[in-house]
Amino acid sequence: MQIKVLELIHLTLHTHSEMPSVTLDSYRELAGMQVMRGVFSPEFATDSYLWANYIAQRGLVDGKSVLEMGAGSGIISLYLYRNATPRYICAADVSKYAVINLRANVDRFGIDESRFEVIESDLFSCIPSEKRFDVILWAMPWILSEDRLVRQVLEDCDDPCEKALLRSIIDPGGESVRKVISDAKSFLNPCGKVLLISSDFLPNEMIRSHAEAEGFLYEQTVFARNVTVVEATGMALDLYHLELTLQ
Ligand SMILES: C[S@@+](CC[C@H](N)C(=O)[O-])C[C@H]1O[C@@H](n2cnc3c(N)ncnc32)[C@H](O)[C@@H]1O
Repeated sequence: MQIKVLELIHLTLHTHSEMPSVTLDSYRELAGMQVMRGVFSPEFATDSYLWANYIAQRGLVDGKSVLEMGAGSGIISLYLYRNATPRYICAADVSKYAVINLRANVDRFGIDESRFEVIESDLFSCIPSEKRFDVILWAMPWILSEDRLVRQVLEDCDDPCEKALLRSIIDPGGESVRKVISDAKSFLNPCGKVLLISSDFLPNEMIRSHAEAEGFLYEQTVFARNVTVVEATGMALDLYHLELTLQ
């Protein structure tokens, strides 16, 4: 597993440095959307698009107020805004590169900013405390390893763009994922939901036990089978939709 983790880190940095700023035309509904340097690319990994499609198909955000944590270039929020009927979307990211990129895409698509807000925030730190959401979702980092080497890779990186990319894929020990689940309770309406995307690559049992300890009902559904999320890894995964419902 450690080889796969290191390969993923290498591929992420290498692939992104080769495509510093791209226009996404591969996703029909979002043709013209830009992904800028230092921002996690949905062309590199296809799972976010598939997940956004699944969420829209199931009507999970229709009529709802939604917070997308770690929105990156905005692929999920923008897809949901255009292909579902959310009442309001707040798209947040800790990375200033992602926030600039998100705002540019909001402008590009002429989005109604009274229904779509972009906030630079480390998890919930800058989300106004009076805001409440029906749904909080996160296409979270895939590497939640406790491994000292993985933590070291993140700490030793001194290129700000590379560091932003590394924070897109690494959450040492799953600390941020656990914090999102815990803190979400203060920002959710009654019966609100936290939605997460996952796969066999992630420690789903850790997420389940943390969510249940925090009082959520945990449901795990396979929404796509055998998907090669990152082409160059050749690794086919089943993708899971994790739905945590506040009880
Ligand atoms: C796997 S990427 C997903 C990006 C985008 N949603 C997509 O699907 O392409 C994870 C995102 O989470 C963001 N992120 C990581 N740690 C965060 C934190 N503490 N607070 C807010 N966002 C964070 C990263 O900057 C990155 O944009």
